[in-house]
Amino acid sequence: MTDSASESFVPQHIAIIMDGNGRWANSRGWKRSLGHYRGSAKVKEIIREADKLGVKVLSLYCFSTENWRRPLEEVETLMRLLKSFLIKERDELHANGVQVRVLGQLEKIPAAVRAIVTETIDMTSKNNGMVLNFCISYGSRHEIVDAVKVVAERVQSGELKPSEINEELISSLLYTGGLPDPDLLIRTSGEFRISNFFLWQLAYSEILILDKYWPDFGAEDLRNACQHFSRRERRFGATPPTPLRPGIAAT
Ligand code: IPE
Ligand code: IPE
Ligand code: MG
Repeated sequence: MTDSASESFVPQHIAIIMDGNGRWANSRGWKRSLGHYRGSAKVKEIIREADKLGVKVLSLYCFSTENWRRPLEEVETLMRLLKSFLIKERDELHANGVQVRVLGQLEKIPAAVRAIVTETIDMTSKNNGMVLNFCISYGSRHEIVDAVKVVAERVQSGELKPSEINEELISSLLYTGGLPDPDLLIRTSGEFRISNFFLWQLAYSEILILDKYWPDFGAEDLRNACQHFSRRERRFGATPPTPLRPGIAAT
């Protein structure tokens, strides 16, 4: 862990809604695609910094189930950027022990992109460093519906009794099964909404909305966000002060 990490209380799991690429480009009179291009360069910077800080899980909201409603040209740009990002970065991610996962409807992604995504997941699957979740064609409602279907099938087959359905079971059936819930959610570009992201998992996450477009968000902003997080008092419904602080205490 680095010096900067030792000064703060680093969240175990950081989730980021990387928003504002289009407005970043528009504010300069440029095409939205340039914003996405610059945004993908920032993804690299943030992954590196999160790893350096000792974050255990980083979840990046890259493309939502609703983003398929965008013009085809924009969707194609985003898919192309995803593919080239993985091709360029996966060796370094692998060398650093990062485990890449993709949460979402993988079957909806164009075949050529899916092939690279699958290769990257396979290549890094045995790594035990930071877990990096790329949320692609991800929608939290869809994820919950998928989990409910599994529960219904198990009940129908007699494998599960309705009385055995509990929060742990539902959590385990989500795409994030086995991972801790996010301690910190960051959304860039000032929107106060969660846009169908991690509806279940964010139950007790600290939320930080930043007034910066994603392409302007950098390593220093991530460190500041961690500092900010370290000053939050998490109560989990209890009365203050509480000893509960499920993050990684810096050593
Ligand atoms: C985030 O930036 C990237 C994706 C949602 C894919 P936007 O493209 O949403 O940019 P704004 O919000 O329109 O500025
Ligand atoms: C949320 O951003 C999705 C991602 C960042 C991938 P959007 O730009 O799609 O969200 P809305 O439409 O402003 O709610
Ligand atoms: Mg947006």
